[in-house]
Amino acid sequence: MDYRDYIAKKLNTEGVAAADITLPPNSEMGDYALPCFKLAKVFRKSPVQIAEELKNSFVCDGVISEVSAVNGYLNFKVNKAGLANEVLNEIEKAGSGYGSSVAGKGKTVCIDYSSVNIAKPFHIGHLSTTVLGGSLYKIYKFLGYNVVGINHLGDYGTQFGKLICAYKKWGNREEVEKGGIHAINALYVRFNEEADGQMEDEAREYFRLIESGDKEANELFEWFKKLTLEYVQKIYEKLNITFDSYAGERFYTDKMQPVIDELKSKNLLKESEGASIVDLEAYGMPPCLILRSDGASLYATRDLAAAIYRKNTYDFSKCLYVVAYQQNLHFKQVFKVLELMGKPWAKDMVHVAYGMVSLEDGAMSTRKGKVVWLEDVISKCVEKAYAVINEKNSALENKEEIAKTVGLGAVVFGALYNNKIKDIVFSYDKVLSFEGETSVYVQYTCARANSVLTKSGAKINLPAGYEPNAQEFEVVKSLASFPQTVLDAAEKYEPSLIARYAVDLSQKYNKFYIDCKILTAEGEAKDFRLALTKAALQTLKNALSLLGIGVPEKM
Ligand code: ARG
Repeated sequence: MDYRDYIAKKLNTEGVAAADITLPPNSEMGDYALPCFKLAKVFRKSPVQIAEELKNSFVCDGVISEVSAVNGYLNFKVNKAGLANEVLNEIEKAGSGYGSSVAGKGKTVCIDYSSVNIAKPFHIGHLSTTVLGGSLYKIYKFLGYNVVGINHLGDYGTQFGKLICAYKKWGNREEVEKGGIHAINALYVRFNEEADGQMEDEAREYFRLIESGDKEANELFEWFKKLTLEYVQKIYEKLNITFDSYAGERFYTDKMQPVIDELKSKNLLKESEGASIVDLEAYGMPPCLILRSDGASLYATRDLAAAIYRKNTYDFSKCLYVVAYQQNLHFKQVFKVLELMGKPWAKDMVHVAYGMVSLEDGAMSTRKGKVVWLEDVISKCVEKAYAVINEKNSALENKEEIAKTVGLGAVVFGALYNNKIKDIVFSYDKVLSFEGETSVYVQYTCARANSVLTKSGAKINLPAGYEPNAQEFEVVKSLASFPQTVLDAAEKYEPSLIARYAVDLSQKYNKFYIDCKILTAEGEAKDFRLALTKAALQTLKNALSLLGIGVPEKM
């Protein structure tokens, strides 16, 4: 039970939801607080006055023992023993389901994420979409939604003509079979470096052959696709990522004409210099290009067809696109066109935009072949994790397994810790630090809690009326706020809230661990502290698992 929700319901005031109730940094004033500044507009009164009035009408009960109004804040003190007892019991009962709910029952969310490009490198730029989407997938499932994970493959376009042309000229089967995506990419890079006018013409012809169903061209294309997918699937496995559909851009080849017809019949399609567009000037946007002057469809055309297909197939209540902010305009245009087409569900389309990830040593370019492969970042992080762990505890068993969990976790957490729209610079040392705001720190806290529990050996009996001290209560409050944190993360499409939560709970647990004896405590204090330790461990595990990160038993 989250008391923020309880308080919000009890206040029953317009404009106040659980998410508005905060946990003040020090609990001298109160355990929970409602800042009344936002409400000033709603009620046209000063925050001080609002806090005062809300205080006067609030009736304390067994849960909330005291309420006060200070400087525009409404502060609540809670019955500490009551909250502790309730929360620890709930976590004990729910276990790995603590924080889950049935909020999404009967609703479907489509999440378009990772969406790799066939025959192109899977590079560090794909890290965010992959792990953000992967985490949102888990979060929505946890909240009871039916979730459809879609990898909208980039498998359509003239580059496949170029690739076939390059393969025919310079490639051979064994080399590509052996080198996989790297060999394919090398051919593509070479084409861009060396192709002359004649090869460009040939490439166009090969693309046309794929389109017209030519057997050989299509076999080559399917082979490149297979090699790419086998490659990325290995990375998905490591990162705990799954998809329900790999319907990519090509899948919509025969689904675009009906969209074009519909645009025409609704008088939305205009001719402009031979091309067909939807004019969006009235909305302050450049036109959305539907067909080029040579009749070829575009990225947006396929996205329109995909959106309609998804609505018809899955009847989503929301369709998310986890794609970099560089595509802001593209999605604004596509969503606007759907709206103009009269699709009432256009409002349910969400572009979950995120910032760029770069390495400390600079940027990359796919066309010139200077690219940081995600696979290499992962291997390097696992390698470094091994060194870090070995240095800290060389006697540890299963160091390799642990290094994998820690290294992979660090890559994922590094990409998820910041507000998603921020550009981030990825640093191996930073993400692998035991001290910083890292998954390593959280995992280490779990190992610490685990070790306490193993040493205690005893069965844990939660004492009912135990009055927690300050450090214990900070942990309790943090534990109580996990379910609301998960809801907030889903609502804001922001797994970083869960990542930050995990660090915050770890800090509170570690403060408690350092200040209070656990194994050498006596009586009820010992029982309570063990129960608290068990609950903290469970909740940290749940939080990390929503990010796709595992927890080693020892570290
Ligand atoms: N493959 C695209 C890219 O790498 C991303 C696709 C995103 N999804 C979509 N439905 N447009 O830029």
